[in-house]
Amino acid sequence: MLSLFDAASEPGSTDRAERAAQLRELIRHHDVLYYQHAQPEITDRAYDALLQELIDLETAHPELRTIDSPTQRVGGAPIADFVTVEHRTPMLSLANSYTRDEVLDFDRRVREGLGIDSVSYVCELKYDGVAMSLMYENGVLVMGATRGDGERGDDVTANVRTIRSIPLSLATSDIRNAVVRGEVYMLEKTFLEINQRAEEAGDKLYANPRNLTAGTLKQKDSAMAASRKLEFVAYYIETSDRTITTHADSITTLAEMGFVTGRAVQTCATIDEVLQFIDRWDSERDTLPFQIDGIVVKVNTIAHQRELGAVARSPRWAFAYKYEAQKARTTLLDITLQVGRTGVVTPVAELQPTLLAGSTISRATLHNEDFVQELGLCVGDTVVIEKGGDVIPKVSGVDTSARADDAQPWSMPHHCPCPRNAALHRPEGEANWYCDDGQCPWQLRRRLEHFASRDAMDIDGLGERAIDQFITAGLLTSIADIYTLAKRRDDILQLDRWAPKSVDRLLAGIEASKNQPYARVLFALGIRFVGEGVAKILARAFPSIDMLLAATHEQLTSVHEIGSAIAASVIEFAADPAARALVADLRAAGLQVEGQAPALLSNAFEGKTFVVTGELTSMSRNEAHSAIEARGGKAAGSVSKKTTYVVAGANAGSKLTKATELGVPVLDEDAFRSLLETS
Ligand code: IVH
Repeated sequence: MLSLFDAASEPGSTDRAERAAQLRELIRHHDVLYYQHAQPEITDRAYDALLQELIDLETAHPELRTIDSPTQRVGGAPIADFVTVEHRTPMLSLANSYTRDEVLDFDRRVREGLGIDSVSYVCELKYDGVAMSLMYENGVLVMGATRGDGERGDDVTANVRTIRSIPLSLATSDIRNAVVRGEVYMLEKTFLEINQRAEEAGDKLYANPRNLTAGTLKQKDSAMAASRKLEFVAYYIETSDRTITTHADSITTLAEMGFVTGRAVQTCATIDEVLQFIDRWDSERDTLPFQIDGIVVKVNTIAHQRELGAVARSPRWAFAYKYEAQKARTTLLDITLQVGRTGVVTPVAELQPTLLAGSTISRATLHNEDFVQELGLCVGDTVVIEKGGDVIPKVSGVDTSARADDAQPWSMPHHCPCPRNAALHRPEGEANWYCDDGQCPWQLRRRLEHFASRDAMDIDGLGERAIDQFITAGLLTSIADIYTLAKRRDDILQLDRWAPKSVDRLLAGIEASKNQPYARVLFALGIRFVGEGVAKILARAFPSIDMLLAATHEQLTSVHEIGSAIAASVIEFAADPAARALVADLRAAGLQVEGQAPALLSNAFEGKTFVVTGELTSMSRNEAHSAIEARGGKAAGSVSKKTTYVVAGANAGSKLTKATELGVPVLDEDAFRSLLETS
């Protein structure tokens, strides 16, 4: 280890303080080389050794610790709760455009607004991450806050300190007080590594780097946040310590202060140059080690920015050009069949694994027989896959030019792919094929997965892999068997990757599921057409499962929102002896098969209808719905003029567009959470 001291002579306190200062300086120097210039001079090991020496020194002599010491990056005590803080100046968001004409319109509006003929712009990559506002006082980082609703965000300072490309103290001697804004994001490589580890551990996978970044910033354990290797790129500064006249100036100033600035910041003298920049990065974005979802264009002169001002939450001097869904080409290795819990058999594309928008894609649904036939797919084809706002990729086209002469169009098999091979059938007028075999192990697998899933019984530890193992080992032959697993502890311990601790966790999860409310049990049963919402309506209308299973078609359809298809499905379920036996077993196991009306927290949302769309990071959609209902509101599935609010998480798609069209107010996740807290 690099050290000024040898073990024999215990250094005096001045030496120690000097060494600590020297180490801090050295570490900062290497941080700048690594993050700002991507030119490290020492190995990661040597760097870690310097950091460790400083940690040891500060641990032995806490009086030497400073708030901006690089040791503060390793994370510390758990964060109890994230405090809401007000932004000194609101954090704006950008208007989007998608076409060249919209870009030209923007330029025209800017020139007319300023009454001048030519305007200089700055183009930047639009990093797909989480907006962050950093506050520096007396040269030291004192706060990092998320955007929230633009006015107020969450104080996430402890996690922000762990981000190595964020300077804990500023490198400039004149600029000491400033607000710096930028994007926290994650490299695709880091994202893939973390997801791979999650997969190996049998944990849930993260949808994309942005979600993982947002989740990491909200981590209560900052040491965990530190291990996630977040990055920061700065694109905005506000300070009265120096006069900055252009945006290009802001960027060079930020670099001087010790920040990493955008990879491709370019000043453009004309809107044509802006369009060229947009085109260039549309074709080159795949070469970047992180995801972007577009380009940001800003008026360069800050006096012009002020003159143009803002409308609502968006500045008139900037916009985001959004790129289309990302596409990739890959080989169709095979088409396999997937059997759903209700027996629907779906063709699935097995693909040569390829990276698309930050995640590795090896499978994609092909929906049904007709979809495959319309594309005329042959195994071995080169197919185009794309990912729009959704997390799930789809096959959108095929390149027939590369097809071999003897390639055979795929045809739908007429037998179930499971070892029992039952015959499939496709009812008249339907696109789907069905397997009707009540003993089909593949259906059982899906029913079990559904039953244990987060929005149903939420059984911790009973994921896809465990279910597969238990079916193979003969421990699960029906849903009711889940509640006999406690007696099979020793059998489970015989299986691969099960240890006493993980078995305990599983059994505790199963035990806890007995407290899940009746509506969830109804949903978990997997009755066709009985989704979460319908299950709640049924649970309210029929306060016990016995009453529900005894209900007539007429009684069922007399309930508002219950149509004849749902009623027929419930009656079919009630008439099935196997289903009745299952219900009896679940009742005997102690599950809730009778309802208690959930207590209302308030009636603040009475008469209000919410539509939740997109991916939320801090709660599931189901939890969001419960939170709305607990305040007397209604959670609906589609947006109309009567919708009071649309809550839009990440990657929200058509519902968000519709809300904007209809002028329905949209809340982002943070705004929604603040509303819940005050309602
Ligand atoms: S400028 C008033 N520049 O995109 C200007 N934003 O809706 C505010 N973003 O919330 C933003 N890269 O999270 C700007 N180079 C960039 C950006 C960028 C990503 C994000 C940011 C912002 C959102 C725009």
